[in-house]
Amino acid sequence: MFSLKLDRRRFLKTGLALLAVKGTVFFGTNSCTTKDSVLSTNDNGSGNGVTLNLDEAANEPLREIGGAIKVSVGNSNNPLIVVRNSETKISALDSTCTHRSCEVSLPRGKIISCPCHGATFDLEGQRLSGPAPTGLRRYPAQFSNNEIVVTL
Ligand code: FES
Repeated sequence: MFSLKLDRRRFLKTGLALLAVKGTVFFGTNSCTTKDSVLSTNDNGSGNGVTLNLDEAANEPLREIGGAIKVSVGNSNNPLIVVRNSETKISALDSTCTHRSCEVSLPRGKIISCPCHGATFDLEGQRLSGPAPTGLRRYPAQFSNNEIVVTL
């Protein structure tokens, strides 16, 4: 009987040790899955640009002047902000704040602001107020035939 209890204790200890090891492997596997999905996103984003068709529902805000959307692209940490400034003028901006790399918000009115420390930018990405030292990075964008093409 006594030896049976020892066996159970040993069994439980071994089982717990195995669970701990399996848990480590499980979490390790999750980390790899996340990295894999980032890598596949990199692959998808390695082209020369982004085309946004305004007939697609996700791009609907860009049908109106003043409309803006965020677009995730490839391996960028933060998405692009695409703004319809006029009938034909488009701004495509990196949403990474030039102060400490926070993701700036979509425009409110004619102001893009950073939620971290309050820097503000105009709809073309020009710095309006600090602490950001410069404006947002801009990408060339063209609008024709109901499509916006952003060159990265
Ligand atoms: S990170 Fe944007 S103002 Fe500091």
